[in-house]
Amino acid sequence: MESYTVQPATGVRGEITVPGDKSISHRSIMFGSLARGTTTVQGFLRGEDNMATLNAFRAMGVEIADDGEILTISGQGLHGLREPGDVVDCGNSGTSIRLLTGLLAGQNFFSVLTGDQYLRKRPMKRVVAPLALMGAVIHGRDGGEKAPLAIVGGGLKGIDYASPVASAQVKSAILLAGLYADGETTVTEPHRSRDHSERMLAHFGATIRVTDRGATVAGGREMEGREIVVPGDISSAAFFLVAGLIVPGSELLIKGVGVNPTRTGIIDILLAMGGDITLQDQRHLSGEPVADLLVRSSSLKGIEIKGELIPRAIDEFPVVAIAAAMAEGVTTIRDAKELRVKETDRISATAANLRSAGVSVVETDDGMIVTGRGRLDGCTVESRGDHRIAMAMLIGGLAATAPVTVTDIGCIATSFPRFMSLLEQVARP
Ligand code: S3P
Repeated sequence: MESYTVQPATGVRGEITVPGDKSISHRSIMFGSLARGTTTVQGFLRGEDNMATLNAFRAMGVEIADDGEILTISGQGLHGLREPGDVVDCGNSGTSIRLLTGLLAGQNFFSVLTGDQYLRKRPMKRVVAPLALMGAVIHGRDGGEKAPLAIVGGGLKGIDYASPVASAQVKSAILLAGLYADGETTVTEPHRSRDHSERMLAHFGATIRVTDRGATVAGGREMEGREIVVPGDISSAAFFLVAGLIVPGSELLIKGVGVNPTRTGIIDILLAMGGDITLQDQRHLSGEPVADLLVRSSSLKGIEIKGELIPRAIDEFPVVAIAAAMAEGVTTIRDAKELRVKETDRISATAANLRSAGVSVVETDDGMIVTGRGRLDGCTVESRGDHRIAMAMLIGGLAATAPVTVTDIGCIATSFPRFMSLLEQVARP
């Protein structure tokens, strides 16, 4: 198992770009394949998760050319996918398996989805149950809760579904199935989750209405291929934002980052903690807002984080906890039970790792209470196969009093293959 050691830094400086947004990259392949005609995608994230989605569509007969810069997808129209000849492996990717389950529920063929040892433990009923209400036949282990999932698609009817969780994966799976259903399909959620599917459906010309708490899509309408430019992933930028704040003597410009308001919870949290972050040159790319983010070292203070902020920063809590550990005072995170069913249980993994670094953390059912200490001790911790747990602790290592080692770092390639080289580029010894 490969491990990596970070040395304490005296500053994080320079100008970087982060790789393309993972959520938007998945959706560009999916909607591009279902549209009629050609879709081009610039800035596609070639991480393992997105490659799982790309390979799934190739296995369903979609031609996708990659010249190393731009992907060219030969869209098949709503009814042009072919039955895959084998089980489709989604690897570690929750977005691949949950969105594909929705899409495959609408196809008149049989398919089976699986994933790696971590994905096969994650809950799938949250998509299987509403899709069954639409008429899909889906079987899985543990009564349909766990992958592998076997899907006999077709014959769907529209539903009006109130999701018990704020989850873009659930919402998107239902909207994808809704493209194939009779009539309209509506999803609402307790708090608004990321809305990339809604934006991209509109961009591709689908009939979609968006409300405060959800969206409605009409079945049976063809979409048309488009040009997509994928912005930098704010969830990847988040690691460098925190690095820039917690390492004294830092000033870092992160260019071309997606700042969709359903994703900018991390900026709101770090600003509330007293972070010096400015958004520059705000613009739009393919229906998504983008900006350059300038971050400078700051004295942070503890805050309370809950409610609608949680889904807007859902992937960022491992690194928020690092900022909290470096802050003065207590940071409380609540309403974040979803963290227990991510790539790993991120409440338990984050708490364990911070304790190894000498930080006092109380785990709660739906969050954690971190007592800021202004420093981290050197330590060796495990990633538990979770890319964001690994990257968060490596960022913590930049501000620690001695080297921090993270074991089993191969998982970082799921979302951020260039992470280590960017870290080495900006960190001053
Ligand atoms: C994602 C939605 C979120 C997020 C995940 C990507 C997406 O998951 O954690 O990394 O692309 O739709 P949930 O929908 O389970 O909250």
